[in-house]
Amino acid sequence: FGLSIGAAQAQTYPTRPVTMVIPFAAGGPTDVVGRIIADQMSRSLGQTVVVENVVGASGQTASLRVSRADPDGYSFLIGHTGTHAAAVALNPKLRYDPLQDFTPVGLVNTNPILVVSRKDLPSTDLKSLVAYLKEQGSKVTNAHAGIGSVSHTTCLLFNSIIGVKPTEVPYRGTGPAMNDIMGGQVDYLCDQIVGVAPQAQAGTIKAYAVAQKERAPSLPDTPTTAEAGLPEYQVQVWNAMFLPKNTPQPIVDKLNAALVDALNHPNTKTRFAELGADVPEKSLSTPAGLQGFVKAEIDRWTPVIKKAGVTMGQ
Ligand code: MLT
Repeated sequence: FGLSIGAAQAQTYPTRPVTMVIPFAAGGPTDVVGRIIADQMSRSLGQTVVVENVVGASGQTASLRVSRADPDGYSFLIGHTGTHAAAVALNPKLRYDPLQDFTPVGLVNTNPILVVSRKDLPSTDLKSLVAYLKEQGSKVTNAHAGIGSVSHTTCLLFNSIIGVKPTEVPYRGTGPAMNDIMGGQVDYLCDQIVGVAPQAQAGTIKAYAVAQKERAPSLPDTPTTAEAGLPEYQVQVWNAMFLPKNTPQPIVDKLNAALVDALNHPNTKTRFAELGADVPEKSLSTPAGLQGFVKAEIDRWTPVIKKAGVTMGQ
């Protein structure tokens, strides 16, 4: 009888709005990047891409939900270095397998970590920040988006390189963490540059160093970690698009085409450049490219997490 119902649906997909699930609060980097591409994807798909922030368990609540959703293309996830790589070593009871339980669509962006603090912290550059953190010990507060989030794991690296143990303050995403940095309620944060570039540009927070080899064109006056005296601290992280496992190929292809269209659109390029996000290499914005990349990232982060000795301990 020709096409099965599933295959027929796949051919006409999408016939109603599609939900993009963001695993952290609004205003953080994953949300910011997601909303930029959601806008363009809506145009290519001819249906609205609705952004839904599903917070909890450092992004694992949303990831689990999408991994168990119907594989009909109407709900997909923006996962990242935390939910799909670091989580594997961090959470022995992780209830989804980033490689087996999703259909990868493509990488959305990569971007470096930027170390920032509240504006009135008495330090002027990375060296004096490090001195302050050492001197104040656990009196200093380090905001992050929950154990295993990018802001947590990448600041663990920073803290272990400089040898400090601050008091950690978890939030539902770095959007709310950033509000408290701006309000002066918490001291410092390691966040993806796309989440903090506008505030750094506006001078409402202090930005110390960008953890990559080159300066970010979006923050030309902010030194690299090497320039600021901490060359060991280099961290690139990423956001990527995932569907539930067993999603029919025509749906994966349509969503991937919409993603690639969105990444190639001049508006996306402008917004990404303003914020400091890098458009990924073409080969990684494919389902197969992303699958290999996630595997390599799990292998890269597992020893880092083991060495740091942290677990989610649930
Ligand atoms: C966010 O969007 O809030 C961040 O990506 C969370 C994190 O630091 O992992």
